[in-house]
Amino acid sequence: MAKHDKINVGASTILNPVPVVMISCAGKDPSTTEGRPNIITVAWAGTINSEPPMVSVSIRKSRHSHKLISETGEFVINLVNKQLCKPCDLCGVKSGADIDKFATCGLTAVKADDLEYAYAIKEAPVSISCKVESVTELPSHDVFTATVVGVTADSYLLDENGRLCLDNANLVAYNHGEYFLLGKKLGFFGYSVASEEIIKKRMGEK
Ligand SMILES: Cc1cc2nc3c(=O)[nH]c(=O)nc-3n(C[C@H](O)[C@H](O)[C@H](O)COP(=O)(O)O)c2cc1C
Repeated sequence: MAKHDKINVGASTILNPVPVVMISCAGKDPSTTEGRPNIITVAWAGTINSEPPMVSVSIRKSRHSHKLISETGEFVINLVNKQLCKPCDLCGVKSGADIDKFATCGLTAVKADDLEYAYAIKEAPVSISCKVESVTELPSHDVFTATVVGVTADSYLLDENGRLCLDNANLVAYNHGEYFLLGKKLGFFGYSVASEEIIKKRMGEK
């Protein structure tokens, strides 16, 4: 067979790569076992609107985090870097109903900016505070649609002009069941039509 001869491999969730994120949340009473700050790993997450910034995250009803997010209408999306990759996996295979995932992973829960109940992960390079607008029930997952109400980033990610440089964050992507460290920069938005000068400037920079 020739390289581009197609084979039907069946309908599945094959859209790849996707972000993998650690979503932190808590109940209204974080001093209880039931409501303590928790982390769930989510791969079914995405940006769905620009102004205002909005996201969607799909979470099964059976997850402990589903209860917490439904109770408060708040959650924080924490981006995953190389250092957080293993904790991220652990938060995706253990339930907060059984263990304290912050303690187990040696992570620090800090009150999230712009939210009343949810906690952010201090060790995450970027934390995105979200308020739920609506929930759509799909056959396997519930889709939480939320507005981004605040973002915090580690100071080392800002350049001297205050610009966020995510290329320095060592972020991780999820591809067909495996975690990958983002690698070589191939281009930038609009590079296919940019001048030689701009390409040289943008591709040369760290
Ligand atoms: C890489 C990865 C991606 C995951 N993506 C999702 C997801 O998008 N939605 C979901 O409901 N569960 C997802 N899970 C499973 C939950 O993270 C897992 O069931 C977790 O233990 C639930 O925690 P909780 O009971 O404390 O909420 C994923 C797990 C892993 C490892």
